Amino acid sequence: MKHLLKMSDLTKEELLHILDVADELKADRKAGRPHPYLAGKTVALIFAKSSTRTRTSFEVGTYQLGGLGTYLNAKTEMQLGRGEPIEDTARVLGRYYDGIMIRTFKQSDVEALAKYSGVPVINGLTDYCHPCQILADLQTIREFKGGFDGLKGCYIGDGNNMCNSLIVGCLLAGMSFTAVCPKDYYPASDVLEFAKQYGDKFQIVSDPKEGAQNADVLFTDVWTSMGEEAETAIRQKAFKGYQINDEIMSVANEGCMVLHCLPAHRGEEITAEVFDAHADEIFEEAENRLHAQKAVMAVLMGGK
Ligand code: CP
Ligand code: NVA
Repeated sequence: MKHLLKMSDLTKEELLHILDVADELKADRKAGRPHPYLAGKTVALIFAKSSTRTRTSFEVGTYQLGGLGTYLNAKTEMQLGRGEPIEDTARVLGRYYDGIMIRTFKQSDVEALAKYSGVPVINGLTDYCHPCQILADLQTIREFKGGFDGLKGCYIGDGNNMCNSLIVGCLLAGMSFTAVCPKDYYPASDVLEFAKQYGDKFQIVSDPKEGAQNADVLFTDVWTSMGEEAETAIRQKAFKGYQINDEIMSVANEGCMVLHCLPAHRGEEITAEVFDAHADEIFEEAENRLHAQKAVMAVLMGGK
């Protein structure tokens, strides 16, 4: 494993290894044990979109691993924002840094960065996928449920970056998975193609109540992702009814978890009541961004 560009880059063994390292690093932090796997190393943290969790967890995480993370704003400060090609940016940053994390729009930019920089690249969200989030989600599921086999995951909402990565990540981990998306907002076609190898462990439907039957973990995400703000009104109509609420919870299995990558829009994709009832899981999930991403960096750059 050289990079983390998307979930399907990982084998099941690599995925489980990252989760094991994430658990180990979480225990180290709780016990106050130093874990300097990035001692003396530097990581560029490039952001072309807003972020609370990804930015802070990567900055804090590199520091806790003994390295330095540099926040670079690609919207308003880097020459990237003024048209410098990603290939040139990659060749420069690769000479200074030991690794690069990037949050941007196009998946092809992340791939170009990996191709031209010569250092490990981590995808911190594109329009296509959000692998770091799914690693944290899987770490959280394993903590609460003890494993993956026999569990049913169900995502309700937009077939967006979260949905694409959840389908691949949950199937890879050993869960079955149902995506519930309106017909015009299906996940990426290559993700649906990937899911075919799992036979009836994967389903895609458009009725939330049908999809949520017997779910062990329910996921949702915002109706309007970053970069789609101009479509907000159209999307609010299209996703009406694609909400995790008490009615949906009533058809899920007893003890069903609810996860949300955050930020959440209460009253849209999730009700305030369901959000509050599952806040322990949702904020453990947010905490696990830190541990899971430290694991990715320790594996890619720190010899773990
Ligand atoms: N879930 C997530 O990636 O959060 P941020 O957008 O705040 O980084
Ligand atoms: N789908 C959302 C996820 C935010 C973490 C977005 O891309 O804005």
